[in-house]
Amino acid sequence: VPLKLIRRRGHLGLLSALCLLVFACLLAGLFIDYIESWITSLGMSGVVGAHGVVLPQSIPPTRPEEYLLMPSPLVCQRAKPYLITLVTSAPANQKARQAIRDTWGGEVQVRGHRVITLFMVGQPSDPVLASELVEESKERGDLVQGRFLDSYANLTLKTLSMLAWARRFCPQARFLAKVDDDVMINPSALLHYLTLYGVAPESEPTDLYLGRVHVRVAPERNPASKHFLSEVAFRGATFPDYCSGTAYVLSRPAVLKLSLAAAAMPLPKPLPPEDVFVGMCAQAVGIGPTHSPFFSGGPSLPYSRCCYQAMVSVHHTQPEEMLRYWADMHSTAPCSWLRVRTSFGFCKVRTFLRVLLGFAS
Ligand SMILES: *[C@@H]1O[C@H](CO)[C@@H](O)[C@H](O)[C@H]1NC(C)=O
Repeated sequence: VPLKLIRRRGHLGLLSALCLLVFACLLAGLFIDYIESWITSLGMSGVVGAHGVVLPQSIPPTRPEEYLLMPSPLVCQRAKPYLITLVTSAPANQKARQAIRDTWGGEVQVRGHRVITLFMVGQPSDPVLASELVEESKERGDLVQGRFLDSYANLTLKTLSMLAWARRFCPQARFLAKVDDDVMINPSALLHYLTLYGVAPESEPTDLYLGRVHVRVAPERNPASKHFLSEVAFRGATFPDYCSGTAYVLSRPAVLKLSLAAAAMPLPKPLPPEDVFVGMCAQAVGIGPTHSPFFSGGPSLPYSRCCYQAMVSVHHTQPEEMLRYWADMHSTAPCSWLRVRTSFGFCKVRTFLRVLLGFAS
């Protein structure tokens, strides 16, 4: 056999291997969400059953007096929402709330389903802010104010107050989304996702605790840190897997179980972070988190119209950006399936590389 032919065959082999590799990469880019879900599921520790929490058979009903401000108690009875979104907001963040009202929070009917968006606040220490909140509530009717000092350390109390409010005043909603006020939600993508869960209109949804799952996170033991957690507050080496607090979704049965668990859970000082606490409650009642690659967690996601059309939630969005992005996303016809897939894969890879190279945290 002539040597030339063998060499040429070797080149051909290399070429086809390269082609195959490029093709595999493209395919991986198109279906990057499946890969991410699969990798996350490998890391998950799974639900290890009860955490020693004895669930109360019943808890005292939430008293309306626990809320200083709220819309009509009949708001959910009248609207019968499919989804209620409760945005945790600091009293001073009026601009963020307004941007949400002017964009995704203003949507009331999405993919044929009724949705409601309200804001959860605590009590400001500044009396001027307090009276401004009263005015805002009169004008907009979309604030729920709990009886606790609104501070970073008290965010877990805000979530407890939110769960109790939803249980008492909005049992009509099939899903509850908890969202921070610097997060942009894409209601259409979220509703698409929720209906994908195969929830027939009449059947009751099962336990769902959906978001960006953080796996095997260790508690911060450095007392100087803002996130410090003592051994008393949390004993284990790693937290139960939990959904990032920036945005997560609970189905109605999950809200009920979680609020029961939360009422039975001892409240140490300092309190564990809000999202960790919800993860601990979920673990206690045997609900495992479900990961979605369409919820952005920590690092911000570079804006691209087609990528943002695929995302359910994007963190770190300033009010001005929210208005701009929202207007741009809705300025033209939706991107095609292929455009959405490629652009989603591209922005995921870009974010991943930025984190890897240390440009984003
Ligand atoms: C949390 O809220 C409670 C009730 O209003 C208040 O007494 C406490 O000082 C707050 N804690 C922090 C750390 O802000």
